[in-house]
This record gives sequence, structure tokens and C-alpha cells, in this order.
Amino acid sequence: MAAKKKKIAKKPTSTTAKKTKTTKPPVKKGEKVTSPKKSSPPLKVIRTIREMRKYLGQVRGRNQRVALVPTMGFLHEGHLSLVREARKHAAIVVVSIFVNPAQFAPTEDLDRYPRDFSGDRRKLKHEGATVIFAPDPAEIYPESFQTFVDVTGVTRDFCGASRPSHFRGVTTVVNLLINIIKPDMAIFGEKDFQQLVTIRRMVKDFRLEIDIMGMPTLREEDGLAMSSRNAFLSPAQRQQATAIYRGLRKARRLLDSGERDAAELAAVVLDLLREEQNLEIEYVAVCDPETLERIPEVEKKSVLLVAVRVGDTRLIDNMRLHVRPVRKRKRK
Ligand code: PAJ
Repeated sequence: MAAKKKKIAKKPTSTTAKKTKTTKPPVKKGEKVTSPKKSSPPLKVIRTIREMRKYLGQVRGRNQRVALVPTMGFLHEGHLSLVREARKHAAIVVVSIFVNPAQFAPTEDLDRYPRDFSGDRRKLKHEGATVIFAPDPAEIYPESFQTFVDVTGVTRDFCGASRPSHFRGVTTVVNLLINIIKPDMAIFGEKDFQQLVTIRRMVKDFRLEIDIMGMPTLREEDGLAMSSRNAFLSPAQRQQATAIYRGLRKARRLLDSGERDAAELAAVVLDLLREEQNLEIEYVAVCDPETLERIPEVEKKSVLLVAVRVGDTRLIDNMRLHVRPVRKRKRK
């Protein structure tokens, strides 16, 4: 199961193609043997809210569960792992592809954000998604638009501190998507940990009737968290970026060896990152995974959050730091 793979991403695995034993009828002499066509469901592309609502009206008439996977496109295995998980829970899987202008500051990379709609469509068809919702910016944000959703506390620090209106843009668009699609569930990656915590907070505070599921981070062979932004890295920067995961793993090992002090755990990550030239550290912090408040000591559950800049590219990653219960040895 792709969702269980925490560390290294392997080749795509299909969770849908269950092997069942079938008895083939005997082939008659002279009969042409052709392999049956794989019946992947048709993938619809919907670009307007009106059409989306019309389509979902029909689906709900059939009592089918709907799962939403919000994305900004340029899909990689990490995104696709969310789609595979969605398929396990719902008959209708809507993947939104929308590079959301509201979450980019004027100085940020909105225009250079990578896009590949036909590649995304091919991948999603292969994964058996049902609908791509890919509206134009003007469809989501008409000129008269002036309402935003702003989650306060959990967005204050970390990415929220360096990207002041970023989470406001994320929660506004996710709230809109939930309103338009009214899915039973939505799936997000833990890779964007603060984003996931923020969305859970919004859902709780607004009493939205939706289940939010968080999925583990998929990584490249060398441990770098998959991200659309990795495409911006030069080979040298790509190599430097591996220090992030090396640092996180080192911290986890230190925790496992008994270290509980948050500053010590953060220090091993900082030391490794500082060894890399041209890598700018934004934050390394040990926090409570629900409130995102910094904690001085790891007691039960916590998360180690990292953000760095490699050249012009900002990369984030995290690792859960859970204190594993000590197993008592059985007496012989
Ligand atoms: P995007 O960066 O395209 O990511 C879409 C979803 O994929 C997010 O939930 C993200 O956490 C998840 N994801 C990204 N990389 C992953 C990885 N390596 N492993 C597992 N999941 C991964 O996040 C956004 O878009 C936007 O902010 C969005 C929520 C769509 C709102 O615009």
C-alpha cells in the first residue's frame, strides 16, 4: 500500500488491480486471441462551478461517496498516493488542479510554478480518478471577490511568519472547494504539515461536515520529500537538499537513543544543514503536532518542522518524533 510507505517511494503500485482467479473459455482453433482492454473509468474534466454542481447532483442521486484531493497540479507520486487512498474510500474521486493565486505573495513564484495539464490528466486517468476540477482563476475569484478565511493561531509561526497571507489563501480556496464539491472527505499530505493542521482547525471551527485525512510524505530514493518545487533545483542544489532528510533522520535516531531535549534534537538538524553552502535555514523547530506550539521537551507526540531555502527554492519537510513505549523484556 503506497500510503504505508513512509520513507522511500517505490515505483507506482496499483491498489485497484486485485488479482482474481478466472476460468478462461478454451480458445477455439483459428480464433484470434486479444487481451481484454483495461476498463479504466472515463475521466471527466470540469472547468466551471456550475458544471461541477450539476455533475455532483447526479452522483449524489446515486448515493455515491465523494472524496476530494486538492492539488496545484504538476503531479508526482506524492500527489498520486493521495488519489490512491481516496479511491479506497469513495466511488467518486475529484482531484482539483488549481494554482491558487491567493496563496502566493506578489514576490513569490506564481508565474514560474510548474504546470503540465496533459501529463496530470494522463496520470490521473491511470490512477482511476473520476473528475479533474480545473477552474480558471476568474471562475474562483471573480472581480467582485472579497471574502477570505483566516485561521489565526496555528498559522502565526513557521511558514505563516515568512509567508504572511499564504495560509489565508490556502484556507480560502480549500473552503471554496469544499463548498463547491461538498465531498464526504478530503485528503492532504503531511508533507505540508502546517497546512494540514490549519485545514483541520478550519474544519473544526466552522463545523464543516467533512473528514480530513492526512497521509505520510512520499520521498525520492535519497530521502528528499517529493515536491513540485524540486524541479527548480540544479543538480548541485538537489544534492544539498538531501541534508534535510539526513538531519531529520539523525534527530530521530537521537530521540530513539534517549534524548528528549528539543534544542538538542533541533541542533543535530541545524548542524547538518549548516554544512551545506548556499543553503539558508528558515526554521528548525520541535512542536506539538496539534497546536504547533514549540515544546522544550519531547514527551509523547511531537513533530520536527524544517524549512530551508536552496537558491530561490523554498523547501519544507518534517518528521514525527514520537517517544516509543519501552518494551519490557519477558522473563525466561
Ligand atoms: P500541492 O503542493 O500541489 O499539494 C497537493 C497535496 O499533495 C497537498 O495535500 C500536499 O501536502 C500533498 N503532497 C505534496 N507533496 C507530497 C509528498 N511528497 N507526499 C505526500 N503528499 C504530498 O498543497 C497544495 O498543493 C495547495 O496548498 C492546496 C492544498 C491544493 C491549496 O491550494
